[in-house]
This record gives sequence, structure tokens and C-alpha cells, in this order.
Amino acid sequence: MPGIRSAADDEAVPFDPFELKDVVSGKIRDPYPKLRELLRESPVHTGRIDLGEGGEIGDPTTPAPVTVFGFDEVVSVLRDNETYSSSVYEDVMGMVMGRTILQMDEPEHRSIRALVASSFRSKMLERWEEDLVALVVNELIDSFSDRGRSDLVRDVTFNFPVQVIARILGLPRADYPRFQRWALEVTSVAANWERGMAASAALRDYFVDVMAERRAAPGDDLISDLVRAEVDGKHLSDEEICSFLRLLLPAGVETTYRASGSLLLALLRDRAQFDALHADRSLYPQAFEEVLRWEPPVTVILRRATRDTELAGVAIEEGADIALMIGAANRDERKYADPDRYDMFRTQRQHVGFGFGVHVCLGMHLARMESRVAINTLFDRLGPFTLDPEAEPPHIEGLAFRSPLSLPVVFGAR
Ligand code: HEM
Repeated sequence: MPGIRSAADDEAVPFDPFELKDVVSGKIRDPYPKLRELLRESPVHTGRIDLGEGGEIGDPTTPAPVTVFGFDEVVSVLRDNETYSSSVYEDVMGMVMGRTILQMDEPEHRSIRALVASSFRSKMLERWEEDLVALVVNELIDSFSDRGRSDLVRDVTFNFPVQVIARILGLPRADYPRFQRWALEVTSVAANWERGMAASAALRDYFVDVMAERRAAPGDDLISDLVRAEVDGKHLSDEEICSFLRLLLPAGVETTYRASGSLLLALLRDRAQFDALHADRSLYPQAFEEVLRWEPPVTVILRRATRDTELAGVAIEEGADIALMIGAANRDERKYADPDRYDMFRTQRQHVGFGFGVHVCLGMHLARMESRVAINTLFDRLGPFTLDPEAEPPHIEGLAFRSPLSLPVVFGAR
């Protein structure tokens, strides 16, 4: 992209990745009372919606925007991917990411997803668990384990998913700092368009070179998998691989870091649940799924109506943009008892934190595995850590993306 530079082009610029940590989140602390009020009025609303504290949903420039709050209604939309198209993401993300599976409809989506999916099956991920994810987390913990205190967001959760992706892609270690910078700049494109677009172009050039290397000398990494992938005689083009790899940055980094932070905060605030998981790690799957219900890192996803239709008695016009409020649906009191409580022992565990239907999160097994390794390693290395009584109590904030921005803890039992 002529004339525009990513700051990462100049490696002399000192860079603290943490500077960019909250640029995409917004500041709302607790949108849930307002979301509940709106859901009680109706599970589906039309027009612009004011969430208070400066938060708004429904782009007034598009025809008749619709917002869906109810669990069953969100699932109905995601199930009917002919009436509700994902092409809406073209406008938002297409220019930055290129054409990705997120914005494709069937049958194109099915054929491209089939080509990338095999690397993300849980069985395939086992190869990365010990040598790669555990290694990243242990290295991060090494940098503060003798201090007796830490901000776990700054020291661990914010950093590990991007390093895991870099390793999964088999990138050379020396490239990690600029890769992390590009990743953050692309993810925060809404805050700085030119910088995000420049990083997107830089990533493309970088990945084109790596792909050429992997074609010549394949390895045990995701880029080698993607250049080799074949379904029914079809391969991915370089452009398709580049777009997919760029999508992994916002899709896989921003989300996993936030989910891990919210899980840690939920546990640190409730000693009985912390101790239960510390003592019995087989509870991890339910502890993690419950955090995705209670505080999904991505609280809203989008669709566009392909024809005039109707949902819960509300008319929807062809072309209308539809915001699906995952955060509200996951706390729908028609489905969950005491929905505002984080409770890993609840019996109703179904949620839409990973979406639903044909576009359900491709990286969900990776996200589960990464967070499990991070939490287990923290438990094993730090012992039963607690919130730092001398620090400001942390809280979760954000609108489209939510999580704690700090997690000050003390440890020292061992
Ligand atoms: C806790 C962590 C994560 C959460 C909460 C999450 C959430 C989501 C959601 C809600 C969607 C559906 C979007 C839609 O239908 O509009 C999605 C799709 C997707 N996610 Fe994740 N995600 C997480 C981690 C990851 C990871 C680690 C990766 C890969 C490295 C990943 C890759 C993807 C991809 C490629 C899609 C698009 C799938 C498609 O369109 O067919 N995600 N994710």
C-alpha cells in the first residue's frame, strides 16, 4: 500500500503491545441490565438502540436495522443461513482481511471451510498442546514467577494467544515482535484505519514469502497444512490462504485472550469455584463453557436479510442489517436460572458464545485447549493465587468485546 506505513516497518520504534490492548473494546462496564430490559420488552427490536454509557447498536445509515436479544431467536437466525446472509461482513471486514470464510455464504463457504477445517479438529491439535502451547505459557510465567505478584492480563493472557498462533504458523522467533504488532494493528483497525490497512498489506507480503518457503520445504505447521490441503481435487489459492491467515488474528487472538481473562476473574471472585477447579481439573470444560455463556468475549455478531421476513412477530426488510446480541441471548432468563451468576455447576450449559450453525467458531477446540493449558499451568506454577488486596479490584468492561483489562494477583504459597 504506497504511502502508508505500518509502525512495524520501522523496527527501531519501541513497542509495548499492551498500548493497543483496549482500543477495540469500548468502556461499558455492565450492559446487562439494559440488555435484559430490552429483551423483556421484546426479543427482537428495530431501529437504533441506545445502551447507555455511550453504547449504541444499529447503524442508522443502513435500511431498518434489527437487533435480536432472545436466545431462541438468535439460534433461529443462525440456523437459517439462506434468509440471513453473512455477506454483511464484506463491508466491515472485507477490505482489511480480504475475502474470508466469515463473509461467505453456501456453497462457497462449505468448500473453503472444508479445506481449512482439518487442521482445527481436536485430534490434530494434540500435536501442539505440550511442545507449543505449554511452552509459550511456561515462558511467560518464567518472567514473573519469582516476583510473588503479577498482572495476569499483562503478563500472560494478553500475550499467549498471539504467540501460540505465531508458533502454529511456524514463524521464526525473530519475527514474533513484528507479527504481534501487525496482529494488533489489524485487529484494532476500527481505531486507526490507515495503520490497520498498512498492517494488513504488510501481513500479506510477509505470508506470500512464507508460503513460497513452505511449498519448497513443508513442515509440521498450519501454513504447510494449508498449502497442501486438498478436497475433491481443489486447493486453496495464495490469496485464499492469506485472507484466512489474516482472519485468524482478530478471530483467534482477541477472543482467546479475553475469554481466559474473564474466566480467571470469575474464579478469583468466587473462592469456592476457584478451589473446586484447582482440586479437580476435570471440571475445566464446564468452567470454560460457563464463562463463554456468562461473559462471551464477542458479544455481537452480524447478518443481513436476503428477503423480506419476520422474526418473533417483527417484520424484517430485505437488505436489513441484523445484530445478534450473543451477550443478551446467553443471559436470557427464559432459558437460564439466575443468569447473571457465573456458575460452572449449572445444568443448562448450551450457549452461543462460539456462534451456532454453519459458521460456528472454527477455532473453538483450539481456544478450549489453549485456555485449559494456560489455566492449568498457572495453577501448577503459582499455587492458589488470589486477587492483590492492595490493587484496585479488577472489572470486566467493553461492548462488542468484553474482558478485564487487568488482573492483579499475589501468590507465594510455593
Ligand atoms: C474463546 C475464544 C473464541 C470465541 C469466543 C470465538 C467466537 C467466534 C464466533 C462467535 C464466531 C461466529 C461468527 C459469526 O457467525 O458471525 C467465530 C467464528 C470463527 N472463529 Fe472463533 N472464537 C474464538 C476463538 C477462535 C480461535 C482460537 C480461532 C482460530 C485460531 C478462531 C477462528 C474462527 C474462524 C476462522 C471463524 C469463522 C468460521 C466461519 O465463518 O465458518 N476462533 N468465532
